Amino acid sequence: MNIGVIGSGQVGQTLAKGLAAAGHAVRIGSREGNKLGEFTTQTGIAEAPFVNVARDAEVVNLAVKGTVAESLVRELAPALVGKVVLDTTNPIADGAPKDGILQYFTAANESLLERLQAAAPTTHFVKFFSSVGSGLMVNPKLQGGKPSMFVCGNDAGAKKTASALAAELGWNVEDLGSAAAGHAVEALCQLWCAPGLQKNDWAHAFAVLRP
Ligand SMILES: NC(=O)c1ccc[n+]([C@@H]2O[C@H](COP(=O)([O-])OP(=O)(O)OC[C@H]3O[C@@H](n4cnc5c(N)ncnc54)[C@H](OP(=O)(O)O)[C@@H]3O)[C@@H](O)[C@H]2O)c1
Repeated sequence: MNIGVIGSGQVGQTLAKGLAAAGHAVRIGSREGNKLGEFTTQTGIAEAPFVNVARDAEVVNLAVKGTVAESLVRELAPALVGKVVLDTTNPIADGAPKDGILQYFTAANESLLERLQAAAPTTHFVKFFSSVGSGLMVNPKLQGGKPSMFVCGNDAGAKKTASALAAELGWNVEDLGSAAAGHAVEALCQLWCAPGLQKNDWAHAFAVLRP
């Protein structure tokens, strides 16, 4: 698959590397398109400005700062028409966590995923890898077996694509339904970060256990 990763931070770099290692043709994007010299040299993954990466990709992974995601999606909307966008962003507000809990800029029953979906209605957004830290995103080795990745979104085909990619990266997939589940999935980032922020414990992932 031809995948464009929009985001040059820890998440963008990790998923770009993981997806390339899984056999996909990957490009990574940043605002200027020329900040990742060492990363591109080491990995062979080319870098370009966000809009070029979005325009040329078949599937896009959105991994930018949550506060800028909606305006960026509006700006990139023409390049995203009809495409699957794997949305890894979380609606983390600027400012300090409260008692070790990240604060969100979204309301309790709304999500960034739904805002992005409304900003680019013809694009198929799926929540993807928002509930684990970048250090454990690719082929995590944890006691107890494979962890669970939670996806949701309005388009069944897009969720199928996201689920196949998550499985390639070493995860079981839990499909939680439409974009209306976005706030429940995004809340898992607050839960995931709490032990880290409170006890510097970042080595964990969620798994759904069944009899
Ligand atoms: N860190 C994690 O472990 C983790 C895990 C799960 C989900 N997430 C979510 O994944 C997303 C990416 O996280 P991250 O830690 O990799 O990096 P980040 O620092 O949250 O985001 C970095 C990206 O945001 C872009 N950006 C920042 N300000 C911008 C602006 N004003 N306009 C346009 N783009 C801007 C940067 O652009 P440039 O490329 O030009 O610098 C860069 O590509 C976040 O939404 C985060 O909540 C993070």
